[in-house]
Amino acid sequence: MIQSYDLYLPTHLIFGKGRVKELGRLIKGYGSKVLLTYGGGSVKRIGLYDTVREILHQEGCTVFELSGIAPNPKIESVREGVRIVKENAIDFIVAIGGGSVLDCSKAIACGAGYDGDPWDLVIHRDRIGKKLPVFDVMTMSATGSEYDGGGVITNEETKEKLSVGGCYPVASILDPEYTFTVPANQTAAGISDILSHTFEQYFVSEGSMLSDGFCESMLRTVMKYAPVAIKDPTNFEARGEVLAASSFGCCGLLGLGRTPSPWPCHGIEHEVSAWYDITHGVGLAIITPHWMQWCLDTDPALVAPKFAQYGVNVFGLNPADGVDVNAAKAIEKTAEFFRSIGITQTLSDFGIDDSHFEAMAEHVTTAWVGDYKYAFVPMDKEAVLAVLRASL
Ligand code: NZQ
Ligand code: ZN
Repeated sequence: MIQSYDLYLPTHLIFGKGRVKELGRLIKGYGSKVLLTYGGGSVKRIGLYDTVREILHQEGCTVFELSGIAPNPKIESVREGVRIVKENAIDFIVAIGGGSVLDCSKAIACGAGYDGDPWDLVIHRDRIGKKLPVFDVMTMSATGSEYDGGGVITNEETKEKLSVGGCYPVASILDPEYTFTVPANQTAAGISDILSHTFEQYFVSEGSMLSDGFCESMLRTVMKYAPVAIKDPTNFEARGEVLAASSFGCCGLLGLGRTPSPWPCHGIEHEVSAWYDITHGVGLAIITPHWMQWCLDTDPALVAPKFAQYGVNVFGLNPADGVDVNAAKAIEKTAEFFRSIGITQTLSDFGIDDSHFEAMAEHVTTAWVGDYKYAFVPMDKEAVLAVLRASL
């Protein structure tokens, strides 16, 4: 049955070829001192860096830069950004790149209005106060950070990967052409991330027909266009459909009227990438089918109807085969899809063993933003350990 919901989406989302030109219009009135943030250089290779510098120059901005923001962005980059922002009285941030660059920029935006260490804001979100405005031009389809308030940051010292919240970009610009150069492995990881955002909200105990439809449309669209985008990276239609889908992963639309989810696979994956710095989407593709199987083995009566519905509406399974058969098949098809886009299937392939599993399971069931008691099938530390061990 449909549940109560709040949906707040303050970001101006701008999609289409060539629309980066509109950045100049969007930043008017926000001041003249800008921090331009980016990663390891892909934005220079695709010409976006020069285009944005030129636009900022035309608008009379003074530009400061923070470069080298790494995937799974580290708290040190946030601290460096906050230092630049405070020393130079920066007015706003322009982030160009993938989710890591944008997440780091959001944390900097929050840190700008805070006197202490910005890591405090990840641990104590209630201390986030005034934030700098953030604008972005995305170059990856994956996180949905362009249309949500989260900014995920890694602390390698404490082995934690957690996020600031409530920091929505003022405007996000999405041009599929800027994603043409994303390599096949990163494209696949991004696709896995989009699918996982959907699963996390789709596989809950109560829902609504409307948001079931949103979720199933996301899954069908991304699964249809993923192989095309990987095989033919400059295919505008495929890149465009995947990029458009990515924005809606974490904005609340997919969870509309549904039981709130603690995003169990994300919590587990964040533990793995905090310890081993693996690519987020790859970790999710490994963990998700095992989590589904654990759910089906633990409480088939509860989950089989939903998994079977997914199998029928997304993979076209035959309803006449029955709920039990289709639930099992849907899990197989999910794992098969991840294999088909080239994602390795086990954690051991990354040299990961079980030596830190206890610590991960303990941490995620106590410190994660969602409560595992409210997962599709309620989970405790032992359940998390079971999923991690199955993923080895
Ligand atoms: O650093 P550069 O040179 O830019 O290269 C990047 C990076 O190596 C490259 N890349 C990006 N655009 C490219 C490109 N290469 C060629 N052409 C382009 N157009 O791709 C690599 C990965 O980039 P990254 O930003 O790390 O990827 P993604 O967008 O998947 O972000 C992953 C991070 O976001 C977090 C993840 O945990 C991870 O830390 N998440 C953020 C969320 C949010 N804010 O809502 C939700 C997600 O669930 C997720 O947790
Ligand atoms: Zn994700």
